[in-house]
Amino acid sequence: MKMDASAFLEVSHLNKQVPSGDSQITILKDVNLTIKNSETVAILGASGSGKTTLLTLLAGLDLPTQGDIYFQQHHLNALDEEQRALIRGASVGFIFQSFHLLPTLTALENVMLPLEIQYVSYERCKKEATEWLHRVGLSDRLNHYPSKLSGGEQQRVAIARAFINNPKIVFADEMTGNLDTHTGHLISDILFSLNTLQATTLVLVTHDETLASRCQRRLLLNEGVLQPC
Ligand SMILES: Nc1ncnc2c1ncn2[C@@H]1O[C@H](COP(=O)(O)OP(=O)(O)OP(=O)(O)O)[C@@H](O)[C@H]1O
Ligand SMILES: [Mg+2]
Repeated sequence: MKMDASAFLEVSHLNKQVPSGDSQITILKDVNLTIKNSETVAILGASGSGKTTLLTLLAGLDLPTQGDIYFQQHHLNALDEEQRALIRGASVGFIFQSFHLLPTLTALENVMLPLEIQYVSYERCKKEATEWLHRVGLSDRLNHYPSKLSGGEQQRVAIARAFINNPKIVFADEMTGNLDTHTGHLISDILFSLNTLQATTLVLVTHDETLASRCQRRLLLNEGVLQPC
């Protein structure tokens, strides 16, 4: 398969199986999806339907059992982890359902990390991370370690970390799940302003109807099968 020239991300015949005892569980079944540059897409579905698994594959964090993933003309399956990490570092922001903050780093250091590994100067990393933590309402938590932050505060640190490298695409897995309604709207507004101002492509897994309704396209995962809704 060759990637459609107008597509930003294209997957075809994606299957994901994982071993379970002597047999295999099929988590994703023949998923086909094309996302264009600057599109906003919501992925909905019941718990256990495969949403996190799909997002992880789309972002190149894991490989499918079968099928192809093309990301900005790169055939992700054909690349090794180091090559995929380079693409992620340059283009992808990922907000994990369970945050994945590094426990030995402060909020500020966690947010600085994606820029630091791209050899941006320490002073600029610190300035931009401070600004992002301010935007998500955490100016007074810069030096807190994740264990000293509430769930919603950890989520906002993870959100600031996802945005700091000015990604071309943001994958967000239940981004507002731990936030109150007001803070959830604030964070959603930041996300959609990136889409409006910088044409950032958004792929959001969510149970939040309001957030899903702000997206141009809504897809439903039902026991590993993806369909429009
Ligand atoms: N590494 C694994 N080994 C075995 N089973 C797995 C593995 N990863 C995921 N699963 C199973 O695959 C199914 C889909 O998991 P996934 O995390 O993608 O669901 P989800 O739609 O994100 O659910 P939730 O809304 O609860 O976050 C679940 O039944 C889960 O138990
Ligand atoms: Mg999940």
